[in-house]
Amino acid sequence: MTYNIAVLPGDGTGPEMVREGIKVLEAAGQKQGFKLAFHPYDLGGERYLRTGETLPDSVLQELKACNAIYLGAVGHPEVKPGILETGILLKIRFSLDQYINLRPVKLYPGVHTPIKEKGPGEIDFVVVRENTEGLYAGVGGFLKKGTPDEVAVQESVNTRRGVERCLRFAFEYCRKRDREKKLTLCGKTNVLTYAFDLWERAFHEIGQADYPELQRDYVHVDAAVMWMVKNPEWFDVIVTDNMFGDIITDLGAMIQGGLGIAAGGNINPKGVSMFEPMGGSSPKYTGQNVINPLAAISAGAMLLESLGEEEAAAAIEGALMRVCRDHVKSMQAGQMGYSTREVGDLVARYL
Ligand code: IPM
Ligand code: MN
Repeated sequence: MTYNIAVLPGDGTGPEMVREGIKVLEAAGQKQGFKLAFHPYDLGGERYLRTGETLPDSVLQELKACNAIYLGAVGHPEVKPGILETGILLKIRFSLDQYINLRPVKLYPGVHTPIKEKGPGEIDFVVVRENTEGLYAGVGGFLKKGTPDEVAVQESVNTRRGVERCLRFAFEYCRKRDREKKLTLCGKTNVLTYAFDLWERAFHEIGQADYPELQRDYVHVDAAVMWMVKNPEWFDVIVTDNMFGDIITDLGAMIQGGLGIAAGGNINPKGVSMFEPMGGSSPKYTGQNVINPLAAISAGAMLLESLGEEEAAAAIEGALMRVCRDHVKSMQAGQMGYSTREVGDLVARYL
């Protein structure tokens, strides 16, 4: 079996992180008896500055033909913020209909969390973020732009179909997960009385009809961030919209040890999915062999899981946990006690 993986190393430290991820993925494939063919694409700031292109249609077509996409990071100090994010990252999410952004928040033994008196037993939940609608849909516009009477409108788009498929994914995920069997809807029903009314109705209708054995819970987003710090053990699976999901998963990344370890998947369950470390391109650490590749390696494990290579994914997670427990001193770039390459070597060795 050979899987075709499109690789988008991207900008800054993206290539260094992805290089270690590929090292580990290849080692895992060798152990489990599958092959990975990596197809690199030079999308990112450098290409944009050279050619003005972000994501050409021809590349998009090729991405659609792969088994999965492995992304490093996009973001370049000389490119105006927004161009690469919308032109590459969001364009892939939308064009490939990757309607789920799956972000596990799991504290591994040996990893420091800033939350006092909480450990791996308390910090282990997953955020299912809707990934194609909400405020990210790009609906809105300006009126009288540049004048004192200027108006800017940006609408949150919530379709029954889009909300429902996200909720169903979350219910299914919660059912399979060996934890509390509790799905928490994170919204703002007290103010966003249209959008989250739809979410809440769909949540209970679907839950009652098709997942009656799962516990249903609701939190307002402002309370959710409070509980994520105070009582993270209350959460098993959280489902939420695109914007809230973006915000709460950065907090999630911090409580699991930082962006050096946090990974996520942009998932189309019936199509091509994309996996990425959550941290950005970290320009100031570029080329220094000090960035933490564990998030990228973890994203690689998620990628294999999505391909059905569960054993290989579990092996990577096990090796990664050992490296966290016995080696890496801090998840912070430059403070790991090891170089980027050495961390990759360690994970590959423990597979
Ligand atoms: C993320 C990022 C992106 C988002 C940006 C870079 C467009 O913050 O993946 O969480 O807002 O979704
Ligand atoms: Mn974000």
